[in-house]
Amino acid sequence: MSSAQIRFFTCFLADWIQICPILDEVFRATFTSLPCPERYVSLISRESESALEGGVLAEVLEPGVFKGVATTTINKLIKAGFTTVESIAVTPPRELADVAGMGADTALKVCRLARLQVDPGFIPALEVLEMRRSMIKCKTGSKELDRILGGGIETGAITELIGEYGSGKTQICFTLSVTAQLPVEEGGFGSNVCAIDTEGTFMPERVMQIAEERGLDPTKILEGILVARAYNSEHQQILIGSLAELVEKSDVKLVIVDSMIGHFRGEYIGRGTLSERQQKLGSCLSHLLRVAEAFNVAVVITNQVMSTPDVVYGDPNKPTGGHVMAHACTHRVYLRKGKQNTRLARVIDSPSLPEERIRFAITAAGVEDSEE
Ligand code: GTP
Ligand code: MG
Repeated sequence: MSSAQIRFFTCFLADWIQICPILDEVFRATFTSLPCPERYVSLISRESESALEGGVLAEVLEPGVFKGVATTTINKLIKAGFTTVESIAVTPPRELADVAGMGADTALKVCRLARLQVDPGFIPALEVLEMRRSMIKCKTGSKELDRILGGGIETGAITELIGEYGSGKTQICFTLSVTAQLPVEEGGFGSNVCAIDTEGTFMPERVMQIAEERGLDPTKILEGILVARAYNSEHQQILIGSLAELVEKSDVKLVIVDSMIGHFRGEYIGRGTLSERQQKLGSCLSHLLRVAEAFNVAVVITNQVMSTPDVVYGDPNKPTGGHVMAHACTHRVYLRKGKQNTRLARVIDSPSLPEERIRFAITAAGVEDSEE
């Protein structure tokens, strides 16, 4: 991981927590609702330590680092896994108090002092451009689909595939699991793939068929895909919480969650549960986005549609997950069934791509251009 990435990751969080107290609350909710906050904290600590070796960013947490803070307090923090000033700065005070077992006032004081010490986080736009250049794109199998995606599925972002049953969401994911393993020069990521299967639809036989049709070794392709079956939304949260460690350790550049919302829709029924559902969904999505940005990984999630009977003209289907889903995803692609094996894809919301519609086909080789 480059120092620029680490700085972006830690300073981005620290900066925003400092600027906007409301975000502090959001981060608190996110961290505490994630299954394993300590793991996340230690991840940041560990990364900052490695950054320190390069002399770039982190200051080691040791007695005396904060004026007026007792050595016992610092030792409690170190014991809880905080090894750098940055790791304190990016952690909400309430979580510091919980994890390190200290009073709320002390936690707030320590947190404020840490935030005063870290780099405020503003960087020249040119540096942002440089970071964007480290982004790579993976081909989907259809040149037309790649074209409307600006070259393919990109790293550092969440791409959402939305569509009704049979619209091709899972088939695109299968094809990407194969193409992502191609070398970068051939339009892949040259990396492994991680798939979180929430609906029990991951079919290794179909992935093997797609690999064979593309002249690749199907066994090798399957070896390069790490699959986890999520049995409910809690389990899905745990799996998503473990991604930061996994992507780094297992050289993963593509993370797939198929589907992102299925369990949440099935488990949270009725209006009364909606806010809790959306809060948990938002927490999972925000964690996925942090993983995407911090590790320059492409995240692809699938989403279903629901029918809105009040629509008289046009498509009555709209994506599920509401504003939480809409805001969290970087690029949204809407899929519809076409004639026979063809499907229609349209980019419906993206900060960098125009809204365009194309046709592709589902074949034995997965996703391909349509002959029509
Ligand atoms: P849900 O998960 O039910 O919401 O749908 P989805 O959008 O994930 O659908 P999926 O991507 O699984 O697409 C299913 C469609 O792919 C089927 O209706 C088939 O038409 C097509 N399909 C699946 N396997 C094959 C295959 O081996 N060859 C061909 N030509 N088409 C296939
Ligand atoms: Mg599917």
